[in-house]
Amino acid sequence: MTVRVALVGANGHGRWHRRTIASLSGVSLVGLADVRPIDPPPDAPSFTDHRALLAETKPDVVVICTPPHTHLPIALDALDAGCDLLLEKPPVTSLAAHHTLVEAASRAGRACQVGFQALGSLAWARFRTALDPSLTALTAIASWKRDDAYYARSPWAGRRTVNGRPVVDGALVNPLAHAVMQALAAGAAAGAGRPRLLEVERYRVRPIEVEDTAFARVTFESGLPLLVAVTLAGEDFIPGEIEARGPFGRALLEYPTDRLALPGDPALTEVPGRADLLTNLLAHRVDGAPLLVPLESTVAFTTVLEALTLPDAAVPKLLKVPGRTIPGINDLLRVSADTLSLPSELGVPWAGRPERRRLPVS
Ligand SMILES: NC(=O)c1ccc[n+]([C@@H]2O[C@H](COP(=O)([O-])OP(=O)(O)OC[C@H]3O[C@@H](n4cnc5c(N)ncnc54)[C@H](O)[C@@H]3O)[C@@H](O)[C@H]2O)c1
Repeated sequence: MTVRVALVGANGHGRWHRRTIASLSGVSLVGLADVRPIDPPPDAPSFTDHRALLAETKPDVVVICTPPHTHLPIALDALDAGCDLLLEKPPVTSLAAHHTLVEAASRAGRACQVGFQALGSLAWARFRTALDPSLTALTAIASWKRDDAYYARSPWAGRRTVNGRPVVDGALVNPLAHAVMQALAAGAAAGAGRPRLLEVERYRVRPIEVEDTAFARVTFESGLPLLVAVTLAGEDFIPGEIEARGPFGRALLEYPTDRLALPGDPALTEVPGRADLLTNLLAHRVDGAPLLVPLESTVAFTTVLEALTLPDAAVPKLLKVPGRTIPGINDLLRVSADTLSLPSELGVPWAGRPERRRLPVS
């Protein structure tokens, strides 16, 4: 039987979902919803209100690819309409919203998969085999470059709040959210429990409200430290590396490219193969195949996200740097990861003061 799929949020990353839906057999795109004109033009009935889409097209599955602050009400409406969800990351913008959505999905008896697609890779599955309680440290680094056009593309880009609601577009929770989620998932896979403490320094090189560069040390329940050092104002490109250290040596996963080096491997090698999250959700509907990224498995991410977006969180320190590239940043990301230290602890002249937050466990 053909599965009826609808997409809410059809521009931006929604185009990628349109291509994926079109490529799947046994799936029919029954409608699109977007509050703006849809480009390229829709190849299915289109709506400006997701409720009209749900009522008129009666989808089985809804893909939600709108800005983060709009996810919860759309997801709740889609669950009310009896749909399973593929919800883009970050799934929601607070722990309360996370729990509301988990409960609503459970009440409706529907599934909610979250769009952290790198967790569907074979490289990740192999990387997990190196993770156990003997781990002594986890790190995540990435060095990207984002230009002015990136921050001009959408009204929510670079914003802390829109109309009083947190939109969460900081480097840690949006553009480089996969690095954070992948590292938190590695901690959970190693048996380290939930994250309990967050120490973070955040910086920006342009007049935005959120960080484009961040150093965050997360301590898990077991005491395992995770150091995340990421920038969108980088020098040479580092796609995204998760490293696990322990008595076994080091395991390294380059999550965007699915390149992996297990302990003893001389270099990173590509491990091709990714399970598509929508395909996995469809299999879950048919035969109960386990979801790769169920909403429940992202609670640690939402815990960190909430701590980073509390109203009293410091505004990231503005760094005036030539060409919006932080000189020496790539070396600093690596030193920070190697030593599990924040810039202020490394004597970096432009470093600010770290923020420190205990993280709730429920
Ligand atoms: N998984 C990934 O790798 C990945 C990559 C990029 C973006 N994303 C996520 O996808 C989501 C969308 O990001 P984007 O960069 O495409 O944003 P965007 O602003 O470029 O596009 C979002 C679209 O949603 C539409 N929209 C906004 N409010 C709406 C509403 N209430 N109803 C219907 N449509 C609405 C906008 O008009 C726009 O067309 C975000 O959650 C983002 O974090 C995920």
